[in-house]
Amino acid sequence: PETITVAELANRMAERGADLVKALFKMGMPVTLTQTIDQDTAELLVTEFGHTLKRVSESDIDIVASHDADPEDTLQPRAPVVTIMGHVDHGKTSLLDALRGTDVVRGEAGGITQHIGAYQVQVKSGDRITFLDTPGHEAFSEMRGRGANITDIVVVVVAADDGIRPQTIEAINHTKAAGVPMIVAINKVDKPGGNPQKVREALLQYDVQVEEMGGDVQDVEVSALAKTGLDELIEKILLQAELLELKANPDREAEGTVVEAQLDKGRGPVATILVRKGTLRVGDIFVVGAESGKVRALIDDKGKNIKEAGPSMPVEVLGLSGVPGAGDPLTVVENEARAREVAAYRAGVIQAKRTTQAPASLESMFSQLR
Ligand code: GTP
Ligand code: MG
Repeated sequence: PETITVAELANRMAERGADLVKALFKMGMPVTLTQTIDQDTAELLVTEFGHTLKRVSESDIDIVASHDADPEDTLQPRAPVVTIMGHVDHGKTSLLDALRGTDVVRGEAGGITQHIGAYQVQVKSGDRITFLDTPGHEAFSEMRGRGANITDIVVVVVAADDGIRPQTIEAINHTKAAGVPMIVAINKVDKPGGNPQKVREALLQYDVQVEEMGGDVQDVEVSALAKTGLDELIEKILLQAELLELKANPDREAEGTVVEAQLDKGRGPVATILVRKGTLRVGDIFVVGAESGKVRALIDDKGKNIKEAGPSMPVEVLGLSGVPGAGDPLTVVENEARAREVAAYRAGVIQAKRTTQAPASLESMFSQLR
């Protein structure tokens, strides 16, 4: 079977080699950039990173760097995707809530975010911003990692009265690993005993130098409760977004990423998809992870049924064959036979990995010990 080096694959996918090495490590394959991997593994990685497969069969996979697939003149400006991260209880959901002008905190069990919420807000200027909320609980570290990967900008929330905590550091690290710009929101400044300056100084220890400390990381003092500093935060997000010149082609088959998915009693499998490029429409046939389906309904973040969703739009999708995993790529394909073929192929590759790869490497470890 064909093999390819990690570096060459990264090159073809237009991804960073280090990210591939990291993903492979997580899959139980510690390899370096110059080592080769087999076709199945390469295919898994390609899917994992949300790239397009031109042709799929057991022996022949053509990898298309999806970033290059859209010619410059088809690209149109899109809303920035902003992930809110930070330590548990530092006010991520409250801040997002204040930004939305609605109340989601109250509906949550115990006030702790159990999932990644995805919302799009339209601000006074008319600009749109897509926000992803992440949970602060330590069991959700992986989810935060994924959040950082589908985002354009990360807002790290730090409570002025609590300072830098373990998940603040983790959020900083995720942001740096993802190579995306960070904005620090120093929250709860309404509270007596809060010390924003102490937060700015403490951030230096983690190589985060905010503007006031002579660096180039934007920071803003906010209070999600008193609703202060919100306009300034939005301004800084839009300023940062402008520098990034975010664009996507809305006139093509949709590609997206699963933000969250679950089995709903009444509606069956439901996935919240962040559309990355193209436009997802009711009736579209798609593959998502190892599942397939046909879009039965699209529901926006206000609970409204919509007909289509373009780039940077978060949308609930109904009509899936099963529940995909968070972070799985969604790709619209031409027909149902094709969708089932690709889904089955992916399921097979995943299954083969589970049954052969892990025991084999364990075995070799034991034989080395003997
Ligand atoms: P997890 O999702 O559990 O990680 O928490 P979170 O970061 O989303 O925090 P959440 O928004 O649930 O807020 C935690 C607590 O802090 C709640 O009791 C909020 O009312 C409170 N809080 C949030 N923002 C502020 C603020 O600006 N000022 C004050 N005084 N309290 C705040
Ligand atoms: Mg929360």
